[in-house]
Amino acid sequence: MNIEIIGSGWYTPPNPINNFDLSKLVETSNDWIISRTGISSRNISLGENTSEMALKASKRAIEDAKIDPKEIDLIVVATITPDKFTPSTACLIQEKLGAKNAFAFDLSAGCTGFIYALNTAHSFISTKKVKTALVVGAEVLSKVINWKDRNTCVLFGDGAGAIVVKENANKMFSAYCASSGDPNEVLQINAVSVNNPYTKTDLSDNNLTMKGQEVFQFAVGAIRKSIKKILNQTNIDLKDVKYIIPHQANARIVDFVARKMDYPVERFFLNLDKNGNTSAASIPIALSEMYEKGMLVSGDKVIMVGFGGGLTWGAILIEI
Ligand code: ACO
Repeated sequence: MNIEIIGSGWYTPPNPINNFDLSKLVETSNDWIISRTGISSRNISLGENTSEMALKASKRAIEDAKIDPKEIDLIVVATITPDKFTPSTACLIQEKLGAKNAFAFDLSAGCTGFIYALNTAHSFISTKKVKTALVVGAEVLSKVINWKDRNTCVLFGDGAGAIVVKENANKMFSAYCASSGDPNEVLQINAVSVNNPYTKTDLSDNNLTMKGQEVFQFAVGAIRKSIKKILNQTNIDLKDVKYIIPHQANARIVDFVARKMDYPVERFFLNLDKNGNTSAASIPIALSEMYEKGMLVSGDKVIMVGFGGGLTWGAILIEI
């Protein structure tokens, strides 16, 4: 049993911070940020936490799907910036949505989180354990950013995207997920140090750290590998894929991949100029925006492709 998307929604906080604003915080410039990343602005939380953004995006997706929240059997939230260790973000929104028939959990796979989450939902639906699932990517990265580090603070933004999926045997679906550890620590966010009466641990900070050039190299390889894998699995020609929705990290990564794969760069959907990199939220925000703009019609084949901390990477082909 495969799946179809029956509703989508997104939310970003109403606080756009542009490159000129950031140049007052760190030594940087609009020209540097645009030429290296393609980002002009990002939306930064004014206090809302991840579950509040996830809730707003989910309400829109459920409204768009025209279903009762009680019809949802499963909620998966992909996030690396949950409000709490427990309850999960998924349980927090379940209660507020009144989705009382769902089981709910969070999933952590860095910026590939939404791909992993949708693949997970598909597995539950295709094995007939559930019929309808809410799949969310939500992040407040601004709480783990070192706002004095120009290497990272210019890249990231906050937001959430959500979709409702349900079983549909007639739609095409193919997924590929992969991971490999990160011994060189190219992308890390520490959680809580072990600090109890029996340890003498230095308290580590929990800011995101990144080795930019190494991540860049990893990303271009991971995107190409993931897309090729999906095309092999489905026997579909790349020219028959209407759009590719990449994780919104850097326009230069996408330009490079488009050239290497000989696929028109205009068919990679990008909205990172106004959102920055919202990690697990970036793909569902982009997908929801495409629906809202009327860019997607029934029968279109779309590939979503992600890469990120873990390291993790993967792609999904979905038929609209
Ligand atoms: N403004 C001005 N100068 C800066 C800034 C800034 N914001 N940031 C770095 N620089 C400086 C550096 O200090 C360095 O100066 P130096 O030569 O005097 O040491 C110079 O610019 C060049 O730095 P590089 O790191 O070589 O710059 P690069 O061209 O590689 O671009 C970037 C950096 C944009 C981070 C790039 O490496 C990149 O995009 N990497 C991939 C990052 C990514 O995609 N991350 C997210 C993926 S995973 C996830 O989403 C969680």
